[in-house]
Amino acid sequence: MKILVTGGLGYIGSHTVVELHLAGHDIVILDNLSNSMINVHQVLEKICGRSLPFYEADIMDDKGLREVFEKESGIDGIIHFAAKKSVSESLDFPVMYYENNIKGLINVMRMVEDYKVPYFVFSSSCTVYGEPDNVPVTESTPTTSSPTPYGNSKLWAELMITEFTKLTPHVKSVLLRYFNPVGAHESALIGELPRGVPSNLMPFITQTAAGWREQLSIFGQDYNTPDGTCIRDFIHVVDLAKAHVISLDYARDNDFRTEIFNVGTGNGHSVSEVVESFERSTGVKLNYRFAPRRQGDVEKIWADTTKVTQVLGWKPEYSLDDMSRTAWKWQLTLGDKP
Ligand code: NAD
Ligand code: WQD
Repeated sequence: MKILVTGGLGYIGSHTVVELHLAGHDIVILDNLSNSMINVHQVLEKICGRSLPFYEADIMDDKGLREVFEKESGIDGIIHFAAKKSVSESLDFPVMYYENNIKGLINVMRMVEDYKVPYFVFSSSCTVYGEPDNVPVTESTPTTSSPTPYGNSKLWAELMITEFTKLTPHVKSVLLRYFNPVGAHESALIGELPRGVPSNLMPFITQTAAGWREQLSIFGQDYNTPDGTCIRDFIHVVDLAKAHVISLDYARDNDFRTEIFNVGTGNGHSVSEVVESFERSTGVKLNYRFAPRRQGDVEKIWADTTKVTQVLGWKPEYSLDDMSRTAWKWQLTLGDKP
């Protein structure tokens, strides 16, 4: 199949490009480089050993987007990663989030409509569950509005895609609710590139271990969890990338309108367990302290993965230690603090 990957030079997008290549798909990459580097394109061509068409284009620019579809006829599927993803930034710049994550999505849906694209895979998030009453969460756990524009953008996007798909018989959509993606490709040629001070746990850990940051603060030790720290479902980015490829196969081979899948490992790990895993798997001692809770943090969430394993036939292969190890291997390629 010929697959357009929006945001294909970003963290999850770049890993997915590699998995699409391994599965034998034709790939077209689109990215506006707002949160990625152009050299990732060359690196992807090196990993894949073939040239990969790339368009520096913005999904908010409907004319530029249409040009890509005019040049690349016969797109069978779109994996739509392109979005802004910082929860805290979305509180400072809500309109920027509505524009990228909602207006951008509408422009992409317009292309699905006009160019009769058959398959659409969307990056959603476990953030749509908010603070769940029960864990693990299934796809039927109620979704809830978020205190942040980022979180709401995922909820609204899911609603729009579901309605649009219902009314547009030629397209099938898959909404993947990611839990906490971490780690990097084994080659350490691609990985996560946070700009500025990371707000996510794993990049903060690796940057602290590398001496870019002085100390990791573990936010909250008084949660109602076995060790008092928050619990998340960390998933290796390569496993997550593979779920996209399998989603496309599923969409090609099955009759449905929109399907939603949790993409996590099904295992909850506490923040302290992640720190222990990092130290154990890398042999590097981490400088950390316990600090007050971070406002807005969910206490505990992890995925019920029954649906994704039974229906898609996907299952994760990487352990938490693999996630720590590959994240560290990637960090070591980044050299001194920029
Ligand atoms: P990322 O920022 O690394 O990748 C997104 C890519 O999209 C970047 O390369 C960026 O330059 C590009 N982009 C952003 N706005 C664009 C626009 N208007 N036009 C064209 N390109 C644009 O983020 P990621 O971690 O790879 O996340 C990918 C998707 O997964 C996002 O939709 C994100 O919301 C979602 N998601 C991420 C996480 C996570 O923790 N990383 C969790 C759940 C969901
Ligand atoms: C994980 C845990 C922190 C940093 C966010 C978004 C969510 C989703 C994934 C996209 C929490 C703790 C963190 C640090 C810490 N993204 N932590 N010290 O909060 O689950 O989710 O990213 O959709 O929408 O909200 O991920 O990595 O920020 O935090 O103690 O320096 O690590 O308090 O308990 P989170 P995270």
